[in-house]
Amino acid sequence: MLLLPFQLLAVLLPGADSEDGFQGPTSYHIIQITSFVNSTWAKNQLSGWLDDLQIHGWDSDSGTARFLKPWSKGNLKEEEVAELNILFRDYIFRFIQEIQAGATKSHMEYPFEIQGIAGCELQSGGSIVSFLRGALGGLDFLRFDGDTCVPSPEAGSRAQYVCTIIMENHALVVIGRRLLYETCPRFLSGVLDAGKAELQRQVKPEAWLSSGPSPGPGRLLLVCHVSGFYPKPVQVMWMWGEQEQPGTQHSDLLPNADWTWYLRATLDVAAGDVTGLSCRVKHSSLEGRDIVLYWGQSTSITSICLAIIVPSIIFLLCLALWYMRHRPCSHSSSS
Ligand SMILES: *[C@@H]1O[C@H](CO)[C@@H](O)[C@H](O)[C@H]1NC(C)=O
Repeated sequence: MLLLPFQLLAVLLPGADSEDGFQGPTSYHIIQITSFVNSTWAKNQLSGWLDDLQIHGWDSDSGTARFLKPWSKGNLKEEEVAELNILFRDYIFRFIQEIQAGATKSHMEYPFEIQGIAGCELQSGGSIVSFLRGALGGLDFLRFDGDTCVPSPEAGSRAQYVCTIIMENHALVVIGRRLLYETCPRFLSGVLDAGKAELQRQVKPEAWLSSGPSPGPGRLLLVCHVSGFYPKPVQVMWMWGEQEQPGTQHSDLLPNADWTWYLRATLDVAAGDVTGLSCRVKHSSLEGRDIVLYWGQSTSITSICLAIIVPSIIFLLCLALWYMRHRPCSHSSSS
């Protein structure tokens, strides 16, 4: 029972402090999105991700991968990169051809969209698990379980048919198996190591308060913005003293362009009940020194700084300068 709160915490903060203290991504996957516009025209997008951080793109014109970070190649040798480029170029070409042929045969209506995700993930025990799933029109279509293509029950006979075709294509299965169970795990370990400095960095959040659009007469929407932090796990709560306010609502975690994150926590309160409310931010980069912002004080602290501290420093500096210049004179003149 004692373990329960920790398990809950682990669910609430995915990726937070696993046993070896590793923070940052644990999986690599490729996303494929292919739009079949009409019988002759299809558009294909490929991208490579470490959890939700994109490290690879695909240049359809040249048919080559784009490496978005200096360390995105991980431990792959140049020959391997060249070989993979050819493999993917070939795959995309054949994939589009096969689907178009199949669509004609089975009288599928254009336009339609196919999405695929394939990759591997490091488990907490250290083993690596691979996966591949495909969707048609946003609905599960098929997945791979070990070496076997498994049609989604809700995708009907079409998915069963496609799985049969795939499993009969021995060469395709061999290549797929090699990529999923050999190349991906090796690449994942290599790239997590190559990008360690950036993937395991700690970047402190900035936090500020504002009021949102009024939820109703006599009510206020308090907004706590937290931005620029890395890694992703963060806790932002509206507090009254030491008491967490259960009415706190969180926005989605939104990505900034520099691989840091943004989150907003809001609280709907009666306008008279705002005294003593604060927003508390917990993040691994803060090493236990939570950020606490009090409603109604953040602005006054800023204005105190501007209105009192800055002028008084300037005044003191002037006074000191004046004193240093005039004191010796007054001394000499008086003696
Ligand atoms: C298919 O779509 C493309 C792009 O919209 C268009 O240029 C082309 O004429 C279409 N072809 C057919 C056969 O409809």
